[in-house]
Amino acid sequence: MERVKFTAMKDGDKEDYDFLTEHEVEYTKGTAARLLKAMVALDEGLSGYQITRLGHSLQSATRAERDGADTDWIVAALLHDIGDIYAPYNHDEYAAAILRPFVREQVAWVVEKHGDFQLLYYGTHVGADPHKRETYRDSPYFDDCATFCERWDQSSFDPAYDTLPLSHFAARVEEVFARKPYDPDVIQSGHRAPLFNS
Ligand SMILES: [Fe+2]
Ligand SMILES: [Fe+2]
Repeated sequence: MERVKFTAMKDGDKEDYDFLTEHEVEYTKGTAARLLKAMVALDEGLSGYQITRLGHSLQSATRAERDGADTDWIVAALLHDIGDIYAPYNHDEYAAAILRPFVREQVAWVVEKHGDFQLLYYGTHVGADPHKRETYRDSPYFDDCATFCERWDQSSFDPAYDTLPLSHFAARVEEVFARKPYDPDVIQSGHRAPLFNS
């Protein structure tokens, strides 16, 4: 069998869907490689800053690693702006959707909200509410998102910073996306891991 027999989904039988499931499992094994390729495309996106979007992403991940953060944080720092390519108006939600099955709940939440938290640094200059983050004051992850933005996101636009290359982070990206999706031991609902060693 090389293809399913049906032309409308409702006509498929068990053999068709077993075949597709097998295909899907094979395809998902390439997620990390596809994401790393997409990161390279970020190099061409959004100009005007002193560094490219890829440069910014790598610098964020480099700072996370040097802060002693764990793999979930480092991969999240690397991918937090990947949504800029296809979802410029909700790039944070887009990145969070990619990460959510494979990282701690804390980390997915921070990535999802980072756009609103970042407004603190420039909202006044663009007519947006710099304190939009206050909407989330009751979240257990509020301080984590504030730290993520302060230490790794808003600070990572420096062309003089000694930033590590994408290849340095490839193994961590592979590791995260090879995890069992939505594994409770990975999601660790409510658990807060530190962003840096103080
Ligand atoms: Fe962002
Ligand atoms: Fe960013």
